Amino acid sequence: MNHRSIRKFKNIPLTTMQIEAIVRAAQMASSSRFMQAYSIIGLTDPALKHELSEITKTPYMEENGHLFIFCADLQRLTLMADEQEKQEMRIMLGSSALYPIAVTDTALAAQNAVLAAESLGLGAVIMGSVTQDIRWLDRMLSLPDYVVPLFGVAVGVPDQQPEIKPRLPLEAVYFENCYPSERDLQAHIQAYDDDMRHYYQNRSGNNRNACWSRSHIELLKLPIPLDDMTEYLHGKGLNLT
Ligand SMILES: Cc1cc2nc3c(=O)[nH]c(=O)nc-3n(C[C@H](O)[C@H](O)[C@H](O)COP(=O)(O)O)c2cc1C
Repeated sequence: MNHRSIRKFKNIPLTTMQIEAIVRAAQMASSSRFMQAYSIIGLTDPALKHELSEITKTPYMEENGHLFIFCADLQRLTLMADEQEKQEMRIMLGSSALYPIAVTDTALAAQNAVLAAESLGLGAVIMGSVTQDIRWLDRMLSLPDYVVPLFGVAVGVPDQQPEIKPRLPLEAVYFENCYPSERDLQAHIQAYDDDMRHYYQNRSGNNRNACWSRSHIELLKLPIPLDDMTEYLHGKGLNLT
């Protein structure tokens, strides 16, 4: 309940024991059909980190902390198959049934990693921005077909203590037996917007006059080049049909 994303780390590298404990905790997450359909790549090469931090415009990614790149990975499942079996597996592996399993497995593993880091007294932030130039990252990490980078997790010794971000009221996310009316939900969201406006105006850094619902309405109106992502996934063998 004490979680907050940490984006500023002290210049203290993680020990091998800490890195392994975080990865082992990630591995203990539940896994759909026990496919364990993810891989985790520690990005330690300073030149790569530098380039990635420039692409994503996040200097703290380069400066400190250990950067884990979490990838959905359906390729490992094929490695012990012969060529004919690999052909037979292609349709299933590229289908829209399997990719969500890999994404879910990866997300659960990443959340376990964050919780493990926090329980070791470290701080962490999940970073979708590492995939801003997904083809570049794919090339740099030499990712084979069926392996797709989803996000990074930066972990380090915290050098900040940001305020905890208020969450939606419980009544806006937990319902018994059926989904509530729009009117009920809107009332809870209105109350939450007031909370969030107060939080954004008063937090210790990056103050702004904003609220939760309006920020997302504005964000979701923006055009996203989804075609490009679809093309990238198709190129990885993931037709998602
Ligand atoms: C999939 C995912 C991607 C995220 N990407 C970024 C990111 O690129 N940059 C960033 O600063 N935070 C990123 N975050 C962190 C969220 O902004 C953060 O979790 C959210 O604002 C709630 O704040 P808290 O984690 O401090 O409670 C990401 C979180 C998730 C789950």
